[in-house]
Amino acid sequence: MNQSIATVMVQVVRLCGLVALGTGALSWFAYNSPLLVHVVFGGLLVSALCILAFQSRSSAGKQTVLAVAVAIVIPLLGLLELKPFLGEFRWALQWLHPAAGIGGMGLAEVLAKRIRLG
Ligand code: HEM
Repeated sequence: MNQSIATVMVQVVRLCGLVALGTGALSWFAYNSPLLVHVVFGGLLVSALCILAFQSRSSAGKQTVLAVAVAIVIPLLGLLELKPFLGEFRWALQWLHPAAGIGGMGLAEVLAKRIRLG
């Protein structure tokens, strides 16, 4: 049961990661991409990552903690980008936010493998 939930969650992370990267990149290059779609798929990715972290709490200690931290940091960095006071620091967030997203996708793969191995 745990294994099949992990398999579904990692597929959710893969699919939502691709959509979040695509819609994020579109808005980066100033095309008109709906931010709501990006946030919904990003939110689904983060939720699936949290479920994987919960499932792997006994088999992957450090990675589990890291996954929870990344799941918190991804939306924080994204939403912070919308704040006008950032000025010249905005470019750093524009790199850090997708980097955290891709890191989260990698962690999901690691956690799912740990869960499958038991
Ligand atoms: C709940 C989760 C997420 C929230 C709330 C969120 C929010 C945001 C926001 C507000 C922006 C700025 C858009 C703009 O300036 O027009 C953004 C941009 C972007 N996001 Fe996300 N995002 C989330 C998840 C993700 C994930 C999981 C990925 C990658 C796998 C990702 C990749 C990107 C990229 C590539 C950009 C464009 C570059 C940039 O401005 O950083 N986001 N996101």
